Amino acid sequence: MDKFIIEGGVPLRGVVQINGAKNAALPIMAASLLADSPVTLHNIPSLMDVDTMMHVLHTVGADVVRDRETLVIDPARFNVAEAPYDLVRKMRASIYVLGPMVARLKKAKVSLPGGCVIGQRPIDLHLKGLEALGAKVRVLHGYITVENHGLKGATFSLEGPQGSSVGATCNILMAAVMAEGRTVIHGAAREPEVRDLVDFLNEMGARIEVQDSTLTIEGVKSLHGTHHTIIPDRIEAGTYMVAAAITHGDLILKGCHLPHMESVVSKLREIGVEVEPVVGGARCRCNNCRFNPTSIRTLPFPGFPTDLQAQFSSMLAIANGESTVTDTIYPERFMHVAELARMGANISVYSATATICGVEKLQAAPVMATDLRASAALILAALASEGKTEILRVYHIDRGYEHIEEKLDAVGARIRREA
Ligand code: UD1
Repeated sequence: MDKFIIEGGVPLRGVVQINGAKNAALPIMAASLLADSPVTLHNIPSLMDVDTMMHVLHTVGADVVRDRETLVIDPARFNVAEAPYDLVRKMRASIYVLGPMVARLKKAKVSLPGGCVIGQRPIDLHLKGLEALGAKVRVLHGYITVENHGLKGATFSLEGPQGSSVGATCNILMAAVMAEGRTVIHGAAREPEVRDLVDFLNEMGARIEVQDSTLTIEGVKSLHGTHHTIIPDRIEAGTYMVAAAITHGDLILKGCHLPHMESVVSKLREIGVEVEPVVGGARCRCNNCRFNPTSIRTLPFPGFPTDLQAQFSSMLAIANGESTVTDTIYPERFMHVAELARMGANISVYSATATICGVEKLQAAPVMATDLRASAALILAALASEGKTEILRVYHIDRGYEHIEEKLDAVGARIRREA
């Protein structure tokens, strides 16, 4: 298994290209199954999760051809209504084929994704939405089985105890676009990635209107192929912003879209980091000796994203005072804390809140990556540490960050991958 060796202490300077958003690419790839002719997707990031979704699409009968950042998906032979455990256990987002299967094949058998390292991840809202559209849903032997004799538009809410759900909104949207009549989804997720899916579906001929957290869908009989460019990855951009700040460097993030990042940028400014728009992206720098402490509460969009709380925790670990980070979306998402503690961070977790007492410096140590965003947090901490840090199990990072070591190396980081 690969590991990263990082020697910290170098301010990062230069330009980093931000890729297409993983969390937009995955549902949009699945939604291509709804078309009756080929779809061309641009700005597809080169990630393990994208490879897994390509594999899922092949398995259900679609033809998928990749040429660098472009994918052509021909759904003409989409006829397999099953996504087995082997695929879904590799990547939860495989469950995105459920909506298109139900809409086009009128049946689906998809493995239950199960829990994961960041906590319990139920799918009750996905099932609730399908039932509201008239599908018959059963959960048996670890599989979700769905049958329907024609979906019918309905009005319902997809709001859960933690607020809106990105996954349920995308899945039900994909099921509803070809349902008969009008569907109104209240409590829908408002993440830019969901909005990108809506735009994509409308480009294919769907009729979806968005008003805050309400989606109104007029069912259509069929959808056609189109060309679509995936939005920039705001989580990747946010991670590199922290990289600039934590090393007291100065980075231009080419392709990053600041309007998707207001909550993140306002937190960075509060902490003492400068962020400004520049032509074609954003500039992020920090000359301050110590960061200001702050309190962060993750929330559905437009709130602060849970996918950036671990990375911000690394930065707050060396702030000038006490900060708190509360994850209201995944209250158990604190796997990075024990590893950051090995690097000298002073963090305690109680309930869904991490209390971080800033220390002057972090120290290099051998640490273990536990999940995608926790891995990013450890890389950031290592970039700010004195000495040589070894991060084990970096395969997690390859799921969601394209060529991270090359991008960091190009702006001055001392990082290398070892098998
Ligand atoms: C997506 C993102 C993930 C991000 C998360 C929250 C993708 C591929 N992944 O995951 O990176 O961290 O959004 O922004 O886009 N919930 C229920 N019932 C459900 C579904 C969800 O209670 O049926 C809860 C979850 O446990 C969680 C909250 O709703 O507390 C939000 O989850 P959700 O938005 O669905 O996350 P994902 O779509 O799985």
